[in-house]
Amino acid sequence: MMGDYGYGIVIGLHTLAAVVWVGGMYFAHMVLRLPVTEMAPAERLGLWGRVLPRFFVWVWLAVIVLLATGYGVLLAGYRGGIAGGALHVDIMQATGLVMMVLFVALFFGPWRRMRAALGSGDLPTAAAAQGWIRRIVTVNLILGLFTIFVGAAGTFVGY
Ligand code: HEM
Repeated sequence: MMGDYGYGIVIGLHTLAAVVWVGGMYFAHMVLRLPVTEMAPAERLGLWGRVLPRFFVWVWLAVIVLLATGYGVLLAGYRGGIAGGALHVDIMQATGLVMMVLFVALFFGPWRRMRAALGSGDLPTAAAAQGWIRRIVTVNLILGLFTIFVGAAGTFVGY
């Protein structure tokens, strides 16, 4: 048993990981994206080609921390544990796992294609792949905001 302070620290880390991932998508999609569309294609795609790999390192880290802390507290018996049955935790898991599957698909699909196309100077292919990254991030941003809301608000109604 970890005790309340132990759980508090682990769930604090869980929340920080959510902030890094969803906040990063929020900034990229809601703030950086529109000004960047005013750039010439080669510059625009080159910028994303330098920005995205840096962000993706943090997303991988956030995914690992979210899984380890989320399932960690449940396996340690936090508030009824893995079979505790709190609806908000079930919803968070479902939408969280969908987000992670989408990110992995983005990373090994369009991102790999975009990186290869940028490497060979094939801008149309890079632009098409970047379009898919944008669509997937749009979905993941909405899911992420929803998941944070459910995770945070649910604590007050779930037990
Ligand atoms: C996929 C596996 C996940 C598991 C097993 C999991 C598990 C948990 C658990 C057990 C709690 C504590 C709930 C409570 O005290 O009532 C929690 C809280 C939370 N989770 Fe998750 N989570 C997961 C994914 C995510 C994701 C992807 C996000 C956001 C992107 C997220 C955001 C949050 C937030 C914001 C809280 C609230 C912290 C608080 O205010 O107390 N979780 N999660």
